[in-house]
Amino acid sequence: MKTDFLVIGAGISGLTYSIKVAEKLPNKKIVILTKGNELDSNTQHAQGGIAVVKKKTDSYKKHVNDTLVAGDGLCDRNVVLNVIKEGPNCFAQLREWGMNFDLNNEGNPDLGIEGGHTENRVVHYKDITGAEIIRALLNKIKTLKNVRFLSHHFVVDLISNKHILRTNKQKGCYGAYVLDKNKNKVIAIKSNVVLMAAGGLGQVYMHTTNPEIATGDGIALAYRINAEINKMEFIQFHPTALYESNQNQSFLISEAIRGIGAKLLTKEGKRFLHKYDKRLELASRDIVARAIVSELQLNGDDFVYLDCTSINKEKLKRKFPNIVSNCRSRGIDVFHDLIPVVPTAHYVCGGIKVNEYGETNVRNLFASGEVSNTGLHGANRLASNSLLEAFVYADKCFQKSVSNIHQQNVYEVMKWKKRKKKIKKSLLVKYKKEIKNLMSKNAGIIRSDLQLDNTGDKLELLYNKIEEIYLNNTITQELGELRNMVLVSKLIISQSKKRKINCGVFYNQDLV
Ligand code: SIN
Repeated sequence: MKTDFLVIGAGISGLTYSIKVAEKLPNKKIVILTKGNELDSNTQHAQGGIAVVKKKTDSYKKHVNDTLVAGDGLCDRNVVLNVIKEGPNCFAQLREWGMNFDLNNEGNPDLGIEGGHTENRVVHYKDITGAEIIRALLNKIKTLKNVRFLSHHFVVDLISNKHILRTNKQKGCYGAYVLDKNKNKVIAIKSNVVLMAAGGLGQVYMHTTNPEIATGDGIALAYRINAEINKMEFIQFHPTALYESNQNQSFLISEAIRGIGAKLLTKEGKRFLHKYDKRLELASRDIVARAIVSELQLNGDDFVYLDCTSINKEKLKRKFPNIVSNCRSRGIDVFHDLIPVVPTAHYVCGGIKVNEYGETNVRNLFASGEVSNTGLHGANRLASNSLLEAFVYADKCFQKSVSNIHQQNVYEVMKWKKRKKKIKKSLLVKYKKEIKNLMSKNAGIIRSDLQLDNTGDKLELLYNKIEEIYLNNTITQELGELRNMVLVSKLIISQSKKRKINCGVFYNQDLV
């Protein structure tokens, strides 16, 4: 198969980019790949919203400052300013494409507040902002004739110069080897441009707010063709996921609920955040998550409580219908009961390094969204900056990739080498559990030198076993994901070992 633009991932980045390219170049072909169905993305699960300067008392300067403070000295100031200035455009464009936002009585956007923000600036649609973004963007995509959406297509590897047959091979990305899950067959899709927008990796941990698809595929795929990956040590844990022991995806209790007055309490019913930060429940995520872990260790508890009982019932119902109903379905009446919560893996602040145009160091490979590292988040992402960043960089990738396509001459791609043997699924499940266990115990909110060393060694052994299985057995999505999970876990550990000063979400107790 051949296309002009290949988009991997169907979240806000992949869809925004595809719409923009398709409208600008109606004669070019765009293919969007997603390994699940069209609703499977991290964006679909986003609750809080998009941080945009809208209020009269707010300013770009204040939003920039909040982002820099949260990022703990590691943000790129120019990137921060550039992204934040695009907030109003992002809001206007999404509205034009049919997205609904909650409005106040004057018809202006209702602005929420989350940890680390000094002003109300989070535009949102109830507590299902991500699902509303995806609804609007998919509707728009369906009107574009030059976009082909291939769901249930899992990318096994990117095609690089190693995989093409011709003498003057230029380094770069030439497309992807893709498992068509419906036909159970690997096909090569050649493309002039590839946008990697495959999201995050929360599933390498036992407990995460991320859906089951978040297995670090994009970062692993890019790394395997020599893209630069950085800041992987900065894994952000969301302070308040619902405490449930046996779930692959923990239900998120949005930080925006603390923005309207929810309080954190120990199991004994005592407030504790005053011991850690004067901003209390609205301190940035790294601080609140670490404070919870300290309290859990101090008291020997498994969870803390989130108390919403003093919030006006109508307001809570109107703004957070999804949280109210999800808690109700689990037997928790948020109007009267305390909600048991615990920090869980939520977002990778690092990823594929890109420049100000979204270009990676691999020719024709762009990256946008959680999979990328632009310099916006530094050592700790400010809440609700990620959807904004994903939208802004999708636009940057679009601008650059349509203006400057390196046309690739006719070339042949190596055939995918079929393997006949089939590995037992139970073995893959066992290895996956092993990775999740290792990462949760040793690469969580608080790490140590010894843990990092031991985990690095264990992951190396697992990596070698999994590579051997991969080379000798029929490829399946489960096997491909496992291969990606072990690789990104190794990157988290190796980059954690290199960090010698604690900052943002990174905390190694031996560095104190
Ligand atoms: C939340 O709603 O608390 C999550 C928002 C985010 O991760 O930025």
